Amino acid sequence: MDALNLALRAVAQPGDVVAVESPTYFGVLQALESVHLRAIEVPTDPRTGFDLPLLERAIRRHGVRAVVSMTTCQNPQGTVMSDAAKEELVSLTARHDVALVEDGVYAELVYDETSRRPAKTFDKKGLVIFCGSFSKVIAPGLRIGWMETGRFRDRVEILKGITSLMTSALPQLAVTELLESGFYDRYIKRTRLQCADQISKYIQALTDAMPAGTRMTRPAGGNLLWVQLPNGVNGTRLYQRLLEQGIGVFPGEIFSAGAKHRGFIRVGCGMPWSPVIERAIGIIGRSCRELMR
Ligand SMILES: Cc1ncc(COP(=O)(O)O)c(C=O)c1O
Repeated sequence: MDALNLALRAVAQPGDVVAVESPTYFGVLQALESVHLRAIEVPTDPRTGFDLPLLERAIRRHGVRAVVSMTTCQNPQGTVMSDAAKEELVSLTARHDVALVEDGVYAELVYDETSRRPAKTFDKKGLVIFCGSFSKVIAPGLRIGWMETGRFRDRVEILKGITSLMTSALPQLAVTELLESGFYDRYIKRTRLQCADQISKYIQALTDAMPAGTRMTRPAGGNLLWVQLPNGVNGTRLYQRLLEQGIGVFPGEIFSAGAKHRGFIRVGCGMPWSPVIERAIGIIGRSCRELMR
């Protein structure tokens, strides 16, 4: 989050327009709002990612200053853009001299080793800022991430100095040791396999539990499922009903500034598979049916 905030402040001024994926991670929308940037939402396909022709149209029409994209394991859809699409995204933004903020927080969790290349690797003009993190692979409480800032390096360094001087050295040194020891490489391979196995169990259980007409993503990585509810069921009402029963999902409407995606929920699949989870998924299905009556 620190990297995203710094990146947004480095590439845009209050009042500027920033293009985001729709649906997108609510933290991006909150960060934009907090620095008085305006979001324009561009449809994002669960299989292929950003709709690039529509993105180009938005850039032309609305004087977009920057684009934020989770190119690899999009939150909430789990999409991994192809290398060709990533390259096209970078050349499209470069053509219009627009900065690209690449949020790669889930990038290490792509199941298929071959498709983990960031859009940043196609950056020739230094207009792409890559934001990475250990939150999703080691521990969110560490608060350690990194940035590759391209031509915005000086500005980002000044902004980081103004806001927090530097990130605490001790957890940085601990992560360095973990990386140098070789443990991290073994651990991350195991974690990817675990993630892929876990999400397929969640998908199967949800497929069995949810009413006909439910659709869901088949993510290429990460631990999030984006679930489209059967006709008429409101994701926010389902979220509230589940919360009363101690089950946490996210309502689809918070993944858009304009409260679109009301007919969706995001199900986190990070908890290891267990009878408790199986029961919880049964309750999601039953609660959804009740809302259809
Ligand atoms: C897409 C995305 N970006 C950024 C973040 C924030 O990550 P961190 O905990 O490393 O600040 C999250 C956390 O859920 C996320 O899902």
